[in-house]
Amino acid sequence: MNRKKFIKSILGASAFASIPFNLNSKNINIQKLIDNTKIDTDGSMIGFKSKKIPKVKVGIIGLGNRGTTLLKMFNYLVQKNFAEIIALSDIKKNKLEKAKNILLKYQSEKPKLYSDVNSWKDLAKRTDIDLIIIATPWKLHTPMSLYAMNQGKHVACEVPISITLEECWKIVKTAEKTKKHCIMMENCNYNDEELWILNMVQEGVFGDITHAEGAYLHDLRSLLLDEKYYENQWRLQEHVERNGNFYTTHGLGPISFYLNIGRGDTFSYLTSMSSRELNLSIAAKKQKHKNIDYKCGDMNNTIIKTKKGKTILLQFDVHTGRPYSRINKLVGTKAVHDGYPSRLYIDDETPKYWGHNWINKEDYNNYIEKYKHPIIKKLKNISLNFKEGHGGMDFIMIYRLIRCLNLGVELDINVYDSVMWSVISPLSELSVSEKSTPIDIPDFTNGKWKNIRKLEIMREI
Ligand SMILES: NC(=O)c1ccc[n+]([C@@H]2O[C@H](COP(=O)([O-])OP(=O)(O)OC[C@H]3O[C@@H](n4cnc5c(N)ncnc54)[C@H](O)[C@@H]3O)[C@@H](O)[C@H]2O)c1
Repeated sequence: MNRKKFIKSILGASAFASIPFNLNSKNINIQKLIDNTKIDTDGSMIGFKSKKIPKVKVGIIGLGNRGTTLLKMFNYLVQKNFAEIIALSDIKKNKLEKAKNILLKYQSEKPKLYSDVNSWKDLAKRTDIDLIIIATPWKLHTPMSLYAMNQGKHVACEVPISITLEECWKIVKTAEKTKKHCIMMENCNYNDEELWILNMVQEGVFGDITHAEGAYLHDLRSLLLDEKYYENQWRLQEHVERNGNFYTTHGLGPISFYLNIGRGDTFSYLTSMSSRELNLSIAAKKQKHKNIDYKCGDMNNTIIKTKKGKTILLQFDVHTGRPYSRINKLVGTKAVHDGYPSRLYIDDETPKYWGHNWINKEDYNNYIEKYKHPIIKKLKNISLNFKEGHGGMDFIMIYRLIRCLNLGVELDINVYDSVMWSVISPLSELSVSEKSTPIDIPDFTNGKWKNIRKLEIMREI
């Protein structure tokens, strides 16, 4: 790929609009190209509430692995009359049939099915749908979200919501213009451990935060190389074409809540570095796959600095055989947490007792009980029936989304959160390709991130 094509694939075509300089020159001003993608936004979707929707009518696009799991999360909400699934779309008729049969186990009304490659647009045009859920390959997320909002629908899209900088701006602009919710469904923000830590942050247990670490360390070799798992092996193709951290949000979503990103602090700049690629190639060879060059390095490290001086280390590795981890480390002036396995250190007030040990099991359990998040207290028992959704967190996420829409209150995750957590991917790719050069991270809120606001996820509904 030549340099212009490469930068365009990361920033979008608008980066080059009316820029005369020589694109093959080594002195391309990357920051100028980034600035060129900017669209004027006003931050008006912060605190946005739509009118109450007593029963949310839902359409789902993409019923592969993830879409089917999300569909299953609706069982309780449909039975309670909080939601109804109106229509389903997938280009594979067998997947649609399977999804329909799952749905009909808990909903008596039959869904309308859309199976042509562009018929998701007909689904989006229906006037009897309020919310469109998108669980398709990454390249389709933004085009589908934009179209759905322009058809007057709220959107809840899988991670990441956008893969270029230009797409991020368009998502924000369209949400502001149409006054529709457009959120990314980051389920890890609803996990027990992450909610517990968030509650402790809010209660001051960590003091002032200085540093956090998150990750997506997940051995996906078998699934990436499986010809049947991801439709047309779309996810493997991403590893052929790109190099950086392109699955940022499972680590960064919870961290952003710990650090009040968008609610008093924001990302300032990042730098990113990828290792060489070995493990995916070795796995492919073992499985007798055809010889392909994978551009994505095995291990990516991206470091972000926030405007208020906190640092975040994000790691990404789905090539290496190793235990799963999102790291989930948080460092403050009074406490430190490390995940996988979860451990807590509480600093003593008196220097004499400063130590080097995690707190013992009994004290740890006391902290677990004392700071259990209100959402977990309320929903844990019901979520146990939905363990298939990552142990229950997927159910809690869908429950909160639908109930917020029922009640006409702000959603837990807003459009600015969604693009801030996603934009790190293309910017990491850019930094990797430019010898880890620091890249400024745009502000999508028009300066409104400066206003300190309470997190919506701390509100009981
Ligand atoms: N949050 C999580 O924990 C989590 C877990 C897994 C996957 N995901 C995300 O979910 C998304 C889907 O991943 P997946 O594993 O289900 O992949 P998948 O390949 O199993 O599913 C994608 C589906 O989209 C369908 N599709 C493609 N083009 C379409 C079109 N034009 N119209 C309608 N349907 C179309 C495909 O046929 C396929 O069934 C990805 O964004 C992934 O990152 C999130």
